[in-house]
Parts: sequence; C-alpha cells; structure tokens
Amino acid sequence: MKALVLSGGSGTRLRPFTHTSPKQLVPVANKPVLYYVLEDIAQASITEVGIVVGETSNEIRKAVGSGDRFGLRVTYLPQEAPLGLAHAVLIARDYLGEEDFVMYLGDNFVVGGIAGNSSTFRAERPDAQILLTRVSDPSSFGVAEIGCDGRVVALEEKPRHPRSDLAVVGIYLFTPVVHEAVRALTPSRRGELEITDALQWLLDGPYDVRYTTISGYWKDTGNVADMLEVNRAVLDGIEPGMEGQADAASELVGRVRIEAGAQIRASRIVARRHRAGRVTDRTSALHVDRGDCSIETARSSLHHAGRLPAHGTRRVQHSLLGRNVTVAPAPRVPAGSRLILGDDSRVEISS
Ligand code: DAU
Repeated sequence: MKALVLSGGSGTRLRPFTHTSPKQLVPVANKPVLYYVLEDIAQASITEVGIVVGETSNEIRKAVGSGDRFGLRVTYLPQEAPLGLAHAVLIARDYLGEEDFVMYLGDNFVVGGIAGNSSTFRAERPDAQILLTRVSDPSSFGVAEIGCDGRVVALEEKPRHPRSDLAVVGIYLFTPVVHEAVRALTPSRRGELEITDALQWLLDGPYDVRYTTISGYWKDTGNVADMLEVNRAVLDGIEPGMEGQADAASELVGRVRIEAGAQIRASRIVARRHRAGRVTDRTSALHVDRGDCSIETARSSLHHAGRLPAHGTRRVQHSLLGRNVTVAPAPRVPAGSRLILGDDSRVEISS
C-alpha cells in the first residue's frame, strides 16, 4: 500500500501565519501539520509516499527532504496548478500503479491517526473507504448523506444546504478502481476535479464505498480559535519531562515539558492539568524546546524561535504568536501604545 499526500494548491492562507509558509507547514504544538501526516502514515506501516506539490514546492521539499527521518521513501509529484483533489490522483497514476493507497490531505489533522482504519481497509478491501466526522459548519466540507440502511447514498461538495452534519475528512482509502472514476470526471462549478465526485461515481456504480466516523479532527480552517484548540489537544498528550535547562531562579509547575536545548531563566512556568474526562477553560500544557519552540500557556501559542521574556511581562493569554516574535515588557507604563504591525494583524488593547 502506498500513500498520496496532497501538499499542492495555493490554498487559503492562515493569516498572518502563512504569508511566509504553505498551510501544510503551519505548526501545531511546535511541528508542521504535514509532519504529523507523515508520522501517521509511517505508523500505519506505509513507506512509499508520493507528495503532490504545487507553487510552494520548494518549501515542502526543504521541510521533508527524502523522508528518511520519518522512515519513508518520498517521491515528489509536481502538479502544474491546483486543479482539484481528483486531478492530483490523475497525475499520480503512474506513481501509484496498481497498488491500494491512502490519500491524505496535507493540511488535515486527526487525533488518534489512521493505523486502525488502514488495517480494517487492508483486511476487508472495499473499493473505497472514507472517514466522516460531525461538524458545526458542514457547508465548508464535502458532506455525506447516509441512507436508512446505514450506507452512504450521496456526497456533495460544500453544499449550500447540507443534508447532514457529517463532513468528509481529508483521508481516503482507495483501491485502483478510483483511477477509472477520476478519468470519468469533468470539472465542477468551482473548476476543479472533485474527489467527492469520484466517490459519487463509485457510489452510482457497483462499488462498495464504506465509511467510519471519527472525532478529534481538525483541518486548516484559517481559524485561530480552532488552531489553539488543536494545539492544546496535542500539548495535552505530551509527556512532562526535563531535558533542557532551568536555572535556580525558575520554577516549573504542573505538566511542563522542557526539551533539550531549551533554556528557562528566572521564570515561573505553570501548566494546568486536564480535569478528569473533559477539557475545561483551565486546561493547558506547556512545551518548550530548542530554537523552535511552541508554548501554550493560558491558552496561547508561540511558534518557532519566539522569545517570551518573563521578566516584567504581564500574563499572555488566548494569543497566537508567529515566527521571530518577541514579547517584551515596555520600559515604563506607556501613555499610548507603539505598534509595528504587518498586514492583517489583529491587536486587542485593554483600556
Ligand atoms: O479537508 C477536508 C475537505 O478537503 C473535504 O471535506 C472536501 O470534500 C475536500 O474537497 C477538501 O476540501 P478543501 O476545499 O478543504 O480542499 P483544499 O482546496 O483546501 O485542499 C486540500 C489539500 O489538498 C491542501 O493541502 C492543498 C491540497 N491540494 C488541493 C488542490 C485543490 C492539492 O495538492 N492540489 C489541488 O489541486
């Protein structure tokens, strides 16, 4: 079995974070989403991975390289333009050959991974298998309609009037019959070859399309609240530990993990815990590591080589800080605020 990872497209940008990097490289708890995708694929015992790349090809290649570090053999498949998810399958035809494959959208994140679903697929080998999840905004997704017999009867891409709240997750398991389906398609209203239409082609034919429902799903929505939420879910799963350095003037409280290379000076770092069984407003964990650091404290996230000097800085909360950001105390209580902001920044100033 092979994997086809989609990291092409121009994509909508998660402002202000993807002014400078592709959306598949947006970090979640310190790691690009695409790394979770590749680790998940390796976990499912798949080693051959084709990555579809577009205009951000150079950044993706630089971030992933040969795939060695994930235990994968990566082949890059250039797509001339983002002509649709089914178009990506079309251009990957020779690479995929006659093998079954998992198609994984490079901006999707599933808590719990795909190992379970891929082993069911390998064992039962339906023609295709999809993952569905309940969402509050189905019109931003492919949406599935389930018949009384519990099978998928129809799929619709970003419907104005969704027939259910079951969204199609960006992970699809296919046998080679999908190649016939994508060849039969014509571009949709938005000018793309839709994978939803390829699945509908299978449903309309004598093919067996199965589904499982999952929870713990996130995709790059460009939504900061969602990003903090997934960041927090991942940080909550991180084991506390101390591999870096903290000086005598520092105190670490709760589920704090300091990775090798990180230095904590004269700081008090507090990570609150889960309350049993449910995530509360007080939930957070904190993860600091070398150079590339991601901090979540009081529901905030700091990416990359950010600096958050504790001394004299007021509490930072519900915040998302990009690369090379420094949050520092003002020299004295200011009469006004001095702001140096890039495009699309959002600042909240308390009165
Ligand atoms: O995320 C799940 C959703 O993904 C599904 O519910 C929808 O049915 C499916 O069509 C897709 O919708 P999106 O509009 O969110 O797809 P998007 O254009 O964002 O592309 C998803 C990923 O695939 C992204 O990493 C970019 C990559 N891509 C996209 C296109 C259109 C390519 O590599 N090539 C392409 O031609």
